[in-house]
Amino acid sequence: MDDVLERLEQLRKEAEEALAQASTREESEAWYSRYLGRKGAITQVMRTLGKLPPELRPVVGRTANQLKAQLESLLKERQEAIAQAEIEAALSAEGVDVTLPGRPQSVGKLHPTTAILREIYRIFGQMGFQVYDAPEVETDEYNFELLNIPEGHPARDMWDTFYTTTPGLILRTHTSPGQIHAMREYAPEPIRVILPGKCYRHEDVTARSEMMFYQVEGLAVGERITFSDLKGVLVSFAEQMFGEGRRLRFRKSYFPFTEPSVEVDVDCVLCGGKGCRVCKYTGWLEILGAGMVNPVVLKNGGYDPARYTGFAFGMGPERIAMLKYGIDDIRYFYTNDVRFLERVG
Ligand code: PHE
Repeated sequence: MDDVLERLEQLRKEAEEALAQASTREESEAWYSRYLGRKGAITQVMRTLGKLPPELRPVVGRTANQLKAQLESLLKERQEAIAQAEIEAALSAEGVDVTLPGRPQSVGKLHPTTAILREIYRIFGQMGFQVYDAPEVETDEYNFELLNIPEGHPARDMWDTFYTTTPGLILRTHTSPGQIHAMREYAPEPIRVILPGKCYRHEDVTARSEMMFYQVEGLAVGERITFSDLKGVLVSFAEQMFGEGRRLRFRKSYFPFTEPSVEVDVDCVLCGGKGCRVCKYTGWLEILGAGMVNPVVLKNGGYDPARYTGFAFGMGPERIAMLKYGIDDIRYFYTNDVRFLERVG
């Protein structure tokens, strides 16, 4: 009997030492079959139980079972330690440092044109102007005729037009046709609207002009509207948009749909008035055209010109953004270079 117990004690030592050496899952499995598996050393000893004298069987049996249970729990611990070590090895091999900060998500941003349009809506909104949406694809009638520019009128040369294959259907060259849509919807009520949107001109693309650009048209019609109202609104707009102290210049001009007409310039912030390619070396940048609504246009819109007057203006929001943010080339707006889009606005 001593022999068997001694053998078990010897197996315990041997198995414990061997297990401590196992450093992979495979080694730990090999260890299991060597000691506890069907042909394992401890199983072999247990198989000999039947050959022992009956009075010894309980002691030897109990000792062998305890040893088996003990080794099984040691194996479990060992395998857990191996698994943990494998994870750590994999992590350090792949070079993942979980303490590093994550990659920042890039956050979207309003397009500079959208940002400036919203600023324009806010400023005119405070002065009681509503936003009115008018079509980009227009008829020749709305874009020209109803605005007092009949066919063959030399003023048509002011706008190089994109025609469609449908006769009479064009891409609007300015937002002014929206004036007629708004007047016809509201006449004879007084109106105060701004009409933002895209316009198209078949022009050479340069630092100051694109083929597609935005305009914001403004229109006020009522019973006692004067040129001073127009001036007050535009000066107040410029002060809010650019801050006080910027210089505004009203220049007499001509548009068939306004009488009298002006063009309004702001001193060029890009060169500080010294002259650069954006301001065509004049020190001034034109931001809008304006005037008192021509009686013919009032009539076409459904208002009696003997009773009603109005003013209108049309501004270029990209030009305004250029002045506000110091951008020296309008082509940046629609080239979609994210370095520009991320920084401006
Ligand atoms: N529609 C004119 C243009 O595109 C601008 C304008 C609008 C002028 C309203 C006067 C009144 O050049």
